[in-house]
Amino acid sequence: LHASMTIDPAFRVAPVHRRTFGSFVEHMGRCVYTGIYEPDHPSADADGFRADVAELVRELGVTTVRYPGGNFVSGYRWEDGVGPKDQRPVRRELAWHSTETNQFGLDEFAAWTRRLGIEPMMAVNLGTRGLQEAVDLLEYANHPGGTALSDRRAANGSPQPHGIRMWCLGNEMDGPWQIGHKTAHEYGRLAAEVARAMRMSDPDLELVACGSSGSTMPTFGAWEAEVLEQAYDYVDYISLHAYYEEHDGDLASFLASSTDMDHFIESVVATADAVRAKLGAKKRIQLSFDEWNVWYQSHHHAKDPGTEWPVAPRVIEDRYHLADAVVFGSLLISLLRHSDRVTAASLAQLVNVIAPIMTEPGGPAWRQTTFHPFALTAANAAGTVLRVEPQSPVRETARYGEVPLVDAVATHDPDNGEAAVFLVNRATDEHVSVDVDLRGLEADRIASCRTLHDDDVYAANTRERPDRVVPRENKDVRLEDGRLGVVLPPVSWTVLKLA
Ligand code: AHR
Repeated sequence: LHASMTIDPAFRVAPVHRRTFGSFVEHMGRCVYTGIYEPDHPSADADGFRADVAELVRELGVTTVRYPGGNFVSGYRWEDGVGPKDQRPVRRELAWHSTETNQFGLDEFAAWTRRLGIEPMMAVNLGTRGLQEAVDLLEYANHPGGTALSDRRAANGSPQPHGIRMWCLGNEMDGPWQIGHKTAHEYGRLAAEVARAMRMSDPDLELVACGSSGSTMPTFGAWEAEVLEQAYDYVDYISLHAYYEEHDGDLASFLASSTDMDHFIESVVATADAVRAKLGAKKRIQLSFDEWNVWYQSHHHAKDPGTEWPVAPRVIEDRYHLADAVVFGSLLISLLRHSDRVTAASLAQLVNVIAPIMTEPGGPAWRQTTFHPFALTAANAAGTVLRVEPQSPVRETARYGEVPLVDAVATHDPDNGEAAVFLVNRATDEHVSVDVDLRGLEADRIASCRTLHDDDVYAANTRERPDRVVPRENKDVRLEDGRLGVVLPPVSWTVLKLA
């Protein structure tokens, strides 16, 4: 099979936004406890942060981290997580049916992000709480000093304000599973008022209103329209969440999941712009894709929580195989392609819970298959995103109809002339040979070409074999007279660096 495409530095979409490579730490399962924080671990530092995990987070290239949830935030009292640890209350946590010890909270999170050079992104509880608690939390986090709450932060060991710019106004408030779930009308009003008060405190904040929890939600579209009609003037972003999985062995449809992400993004852009026209507004709303991943949700929902309230239980610790990583890489292609409107995104989540990094309590940490496309995209996408329109053979899929087998996006760094091309081959059993016309690119050398592929599409990395699936050098690549040729194996994801 053959595909072709043209890469031209004139086909600019938008800058590569560093926030595209964000992630998410929720008080859920073992993401925090025995994930990023484990005081008894041999690698733990004086604050209890696991150094082995921190090293992998750095290697992953994560730029921002959303915290503390997720569904968790909708029942959370932020005050429980600050102050002397021996005085912090232990609480029942309703969203995930666990016990929350509160040994890790806002100040620990801010310290952890500072140490790793990560931008913190915070969510406020609009499920069981509202405006007052949101502005209190903002005062505690960001006010320099001389007020009750900022002085309390200083007394708790953080004299410098945390300076958190980006705030989520609740989480998935459209979902009937959410604690304090609301109608679009109720939520739109609340989000507008909370945002207005937060802006009185600090006009420079970047505020994210909750969009839909998925494009298949019955209120999708109507929810965004109603929420934005009420909150348009006070917010900067609307959020999107999407999780994909293989259903009933239909690998071909699963491999085409990013076509749904494309459709989701383009529908939210259209809805936000329709509200803009209706209100006669000047600014455009940006998209924060602040939860995305592969997640085998069908496995999770089958379980009954029972009567136990465990501390940091093993929940949704999905083990990712090669095909999951290929889909994951194609979702990153979709996010990058839409960089004109998707200016922030968070991979959900970071450690243990549907995560690229896995740990054992007291034991090792290792990379899942999905770690690799994230790390390689974060490291190689630089400068400007370029639009690429592959001419590709197509396949019929049960879920998404006819889809192109090859998808791609490119970036070009005008400062050094380097370019990167990210490609996916969705064919289940055919190689595709791709011809790329590098029109106008200064780069004339292949610096590297790495492909993630395995003869067993269900091969995964485990504690025992952490490097079973890794990207390998693709030798089936050549560059001559401005024309690049590369062969993509079936079910594969590739990154090509040109210098
Ligand atoms: O990331 C896991 C959960 O998925 C989050 O808590 C929630 O926001 C979403 O439904």
